[in-house]
Amino acid sequence: MRKFIGIRACVFDAYGTLFDVHSAVGKHRGRLGDKAGVVSGTWRTKQLEYTWQRTLLDRYVDFWRITADGLDYALEAHAVDDAALRDDLLHAYLRLDCYPEVPGVLSTLKDAGLLAAVLSNGSPMMLEAAVESAGIGHLLDAVISVDALGMYKPSPEVYQLALDALEVGRGQVSFQSSNAWDAAGAATFGFRVAWCNRFGQTRERLPDAPDVEIGTLDELPAIVLP
Ligand code: 2OP
Repeated sequence: MRKFIGIRACVFDAYGTLFDVHSAVGKHRGRLGDKAGVVSGTWRTKQLEYTWQRTLLDRYVDFWRITADGLDYALEAHAVDDAALRDDLLHAYLRLDCYPEVPGVLSTLKDAGLLAAVLSNGSPMMLEAAVESAGIGHLLDAVISVDALGMYKPSPEVYQLALDALEVGRGQVSFQSSNAWDAAGAATFGFRVAWCNRFGQTRERLPDAPDVEIGTLDELPAIVLP
């Protein structure tokens, strides 16, 4: 088991890591029928693609607008024409299911005296809603949105936001993400990185790799605690 030495703060990606992005469609699965899986998959793919493309184009809009644009693309691509369902799906995104191990892991880290923060593409409004819905706000020392910067992950400036907010050094942070490209970006920035490979993804071919791969966040305390 790898150990990260000298960790003072655990920083978590939000969507896919703390919150299940597919639980929005899951809440309305019956109304989508056999299209539910492909709609949710296309929605997530386009949401992320738009963050990367808009950052490269220097045409930033917040993650709420991008999430809506990704949903609209997915519904049209899969021939779902239902305005009421579209609004219900979008608003379900504000109250995504929190993965079951998250509250307990955050409590363990807090009890051990570590700082815990969210660092996400999500807009402040989205993150406030998600954290409140999951009931984990009291376990977090900071909830940090890229919105203050006007650019998306994996821009290095995004990861710097966590150092500025928590007032810790780069080597004192353990960063967790289920998104392999985000984990790679954090590793390039210089964080210690635990890739929470919830979906059994293939490792990326990017400049830097995560330090460890875990299946759920339950494995994190043994890595970061002395
Ligand atoms: C997040 O920033 C990458 O969407 C993911 O929460």
